[in-house]
Amino acid sequence: MSPPRTGPIVILTGAGISKESGLDTFRDADGIWARVNLEDVATPEGFARDPELVQAFYNDRRRGLQSDNVRPNAAHDALARLEAEWADEVFLVTQNIDDLHERAGSRNLLHMHGELLKVRCGACAAVHPWHDNLGAEHDCAACGETGHLRPDIVWFGEMPFGMERIADALDRCALFLSIGTSGTVYPAAGFVAEVERLGQAHTVELNMEASLGATLFRESVLGPATRVVPAYVERLLTDGIPR
Ligand code: APR
Repeated sequence: MSPPRTGPIVILTGAGISKESGLDTFRDADGIWARVNLEDVATPEGFARDPELVQAFYNDRRRGLQSDNVRPNAAHDALARLEAEWADEVFLVTQNIDDLHERAGSRNLLHMHGELLKVRCGACAAVHPWHDNLGAEHDCAACGETGHLRPDIVWFGEMPFGMERIADALDRCALFLSIGTSGTVYPAAGFVAEVERLGQAHTVELNMEASLGATLFRESVLGPATRVVPAYVERLLTDGIPR
C-alpha cells in the first residue's frame, strides 16, 4: 500500500469562502456589483475621476471587515489546519482582500488582488497599513509625497500580484482546490486549465454552485464552504490526495 500523497497543494479562494463570515460576494444577487458600479470604484480610471468616492467605498468595507461580528469561519479554519498538518505543502492564493485567512492562521498565503487593510503610494510604491480616515491627501511615510496614497488593491486592468510564484506553484502541484469563486475573472479563472494542461494534478471545485469553469475540474463538491471545506480537508488528512 503506497503512502498517501500529501502535496504540494495550491488552493485558490474567492469571495464565497468569506460569505458565511458576513462579507458580501461580488456577483451573487445580493453582491457588491449589484449595488455599486465597478467602473467607478475598481478601476484606475474611476480612482482618477473621483478618489474620494473610491476611498469612501473601501473605508466602508474596511470598517465592515473590522466589526466584531466578522471573523474567520470553519472553512478558513480548515485551510489553516491543513497548512499546519502538511506544512510547506500548502500554498494559499486568495482573490479576497479581507484578512480572514490570516486571522484563521494561514501563513503561506498570497493576496493576488491586494489587501483591504493596506494602502500603497502611487509615487514610490511603498505599502503602509491603513488606519481610519487615511486617504489620498495624506503624506507617504516613505517618500513624503502628498496625494498619492491609494488602496493596495488590484483593480480591473491592473496586473495581479505574485503571478510568477503562482505559475510555478501551479506547475508543480499534485492538487488544485478552487473554493468560493465564480470563475469569472482572469487570470485566476484560468488556473484550473493550466493545471489540467499539465495533467499531473487532481483538480477540485468546492462552491455553492457550479462556476463558469466547473466542467474543467475532475471533481466538484457543491455546498456552503463552512460545510464542504472542513469535510474535504478531513478526507485529505485521512486518505491523502486522490490519485
Ligand atoms: N460557500 C461557498 N461558495 C459560495 C458561498 C458559500 N457560502 N456563497 C457564495 N458562494 C459562491 C458563489 O456561488 C460564487 O460562485 O462564491 C462565488 C463568488 O463569486 P464572485 O462573487 O464572482 O466572487 P469572486 O469569484 O471571488 O470574484 C473574483 O472579481 O470583482 C472581482 O476582484 C474581485 O476578487 C474578485 C474577483
